[in-house]
Amino acid sequence: MKLLHKTFIITGATSGMGKAIALSFAKEGASLLVTGRDANKGKVLLEELLPFNGECIFLVGDVGDLAFNQNLVELAIAHFGQLDGVVTNAGMLGLGSLTDLAPEVWDDTFRTNVDSVYFLLKYALPEMLKRPSASVVVNASIAAFKSFPNHPAYCASKAALVALAKQLAVDYGPTIRINSVCPGPVDTPFIHASAVAFPNPGEAVANAGKATLLKRLGAPEDIAKLVLFLSSEDASWITGSSYTIDGGILAGG
Ligand SMILES: NC(=O)c1ccc[n+]([C@@H]2O[C@H](COP(=O)([O-])OP(=O)(O)OC[C@H]3O[C@@H](n4cnc5c(N)ncnc54)[C@H](OP(=O)(O)O)[C@@H]3O)[C@@H](O)[C@H]2O)c1
Repeated sequence: MKLLHKTFIITGATSGMGKAIALSFAKEGASLLVTGRDANKGKVLLEELLPFNGECIFLVGDVGDLAFNQNLVELAIAHFGQLDGVVTNAGMLGLGSLTDLAPEVWDDTFRTNVDSVYFLLKYALPEMLKRPSASVVVNASIAAFKSFPNHPAYCASKAALVALAKQLAVDYGPTIRINSVCPGPVDTPFIHASAVAFPNPGEAVANAGKATLLKRLGAPEDIAKLVLFLSSEDASWITGSSYTIDGGILAGG
């Protein structure tokens, strides 16, 4: 098993990619501290995780809250005694053209997508430095590189995450490897919520799948496989990198 005796924090694990990542890590023997805002979904998640690994805890809260992130790291250390990795996955869309966007929505988008990563890593990195090797994977988006209508806050926040992950790799190597993943359209509730930003919302999700070179939406498990690889010793010479995983959209879809 690739993650036996390792402990990870995964944010936004109650749905979509976060849930697929949590399940794939548990199957590889990891102990997990998983988060989300919905306690009921957290309960269901734990039930799905427990058959693979007895060591899973769920903490409900908002990733945009500094104290919540501090609690998360303290709980991981109190319960597991070590922290070997973090996957920052929770995120929000914050849709609207720049002139229409309320300042509060801009702030919320940056707080949820970017400040949250600063908040969590501020407390997690010192603990991870105590381990022989550790890993951070930041879930960004192809929106860091490709523009979508009415996504100014989202695109800017995801570009910030790619830059942040690269910068942190400089300051925290060689002990901690830090990479970002940039998914294209993945079939989760999130992409269905984004459809309203497009000229033809009814067809936007199907069109997104057709726009890939591989002619389908990504599955959450497609992304989980890449995040598992980057979080394991299989990726022991990979840091400061950003991986698009998008069915080929950036290449010419
Ligand atoms: N789907 C795509 O096409 C796509 C493409 C590229 C990148 N992404 C990125 O992938 C990540 C995961 O998205 P997904 O598609 O898997 O979406 P999803 O199925 O809607 O899941 C989002 C997760 O994030 C959690 N979350 C959202 N805001 C939060 C907050 N303020 N505090 C704590 N947890 C919060 C949700 O928790 P609750 O449900 O418990 O509230 C949920 O677990 C996001 O960062 C997104 O930007 C998505």
